[in-house]
Amino acid sequence: MAVVTDTLLADGLKRIQREIDAAFDSMLPLPADPRSRLIEAMRYATIGGGKRVRPLLVASVAELYGVDRQAAIRAGVAIESVHVYSLIHDDLPCMDNDAMRHGKPTLHIAFDEATAVLAGDALQCFAFEVLGDVATSGDPFTRIELVTTLAVASGHNGMAGGQMMDMAAENSSFDLPTVTRLQQLKTGALLGAAVEMGAILGKVPVEGRKHLRAYARDIGLAFQIVDDLLDHEGDEEAAGKALRKDAEKGKETFVSLLGADRAREQARLLIDQAIGSLAGHGAEADMLRALARFIVERNF
Ligand code: IPE
Ligand code: IPE
Ligand code: MG
Ligand code: MG
Ligand code: MG
Repeated sequence: MAVVTDTLLADGLKRIQREIDAAFDSMLPLPADPRSRLIEAMRYATIGGGKRVRPLLVASVAELYGVDRQAAIRAGVAIESVHVYSLIHDDLPCMDNDAMRHGKPTLHIAFDEATAVLAGDALQCFAFEVLGDVATSGDPFTRIELVTTLAVASGHNGMAGGQMMDMAAENSSFDLPTVTRLQQLKTGALLGAAVEMGAILGKVPVEGRKHLRAYARDIGLAFQIVDDLLDHEGDEEAAGKALRKDAEKGKETFVSLLGADRAREQARLLIDQAIGSLAGHGAEADMLRALARFIVERNF
């Protein structure tokens, strides 16, 4: 069973999950033509699954600066689209070859591989379509900054680059700095973009984002350490996906390099440091603090 103990966070997650589900539902209507299978696949992958950590980060940072909730939800939909696309492709037979995600069959199992590739492609484009729309922001500079930030975090200098390193990690004995770099790209980049996009919507000047970037860097690394810990010792039913894959593939991770105890200790230290970066904010940043704690305490 997935558990969330903190009430503020449990309510925040429930709310954002509802909002993101509703947004995907209304933004991806089924067409009455032969494309319908593609949109059905996109809906299968995006609606009703996932913790929505990235949208919650966008919305919680945006809230610090009084951003309109609908704008934050749209940016959340965009980043979640890239995230879901990355998971669809990550699960393909040519990558991790996984059959379960979010407690249901992965997209290529429920549909087929070609549809899964296309649904991933289309979700990636959809993300930028949403950010480029005036409904996200009336300010063209804000829209361009959102688009560029998400693009950099998704491509060869971000998630896709990290995924390439992750594939290489199966056949190489990477050291700790290399694994750290891998994780920063594969996972940290998108989490960092989520925080950054909240600040962009809030029109926070670059000089004013330093503490948020420090927070994002630390939770990003902690997030992946915990993903590796869950892979090592987690419960498959709670996780909704197959575990023990990393060791099986001989993949170098924080857990293989540090051992589970030191990896967990490291994640906790990173979270304390992340919360320390928010010291200049009052109670309005409590959701970000709770989210940071959830990242190390979660069992899914
Ligand atoms: C899983 O991410 C893949 C990684 C980047 C480690 P999440 O744990 O955020 O995935 P969902 O969307 O909540 O399932
Ligand atoms: C996937 O990492 C990260 C991305 C899709 C960018 P993992 O392969 O560790 O994620 P899970 O464990 O399958 O969710
Ligand atoms: Mg993978
Ligand atoms: Mg995987
Ligand atoms: Mg994993």
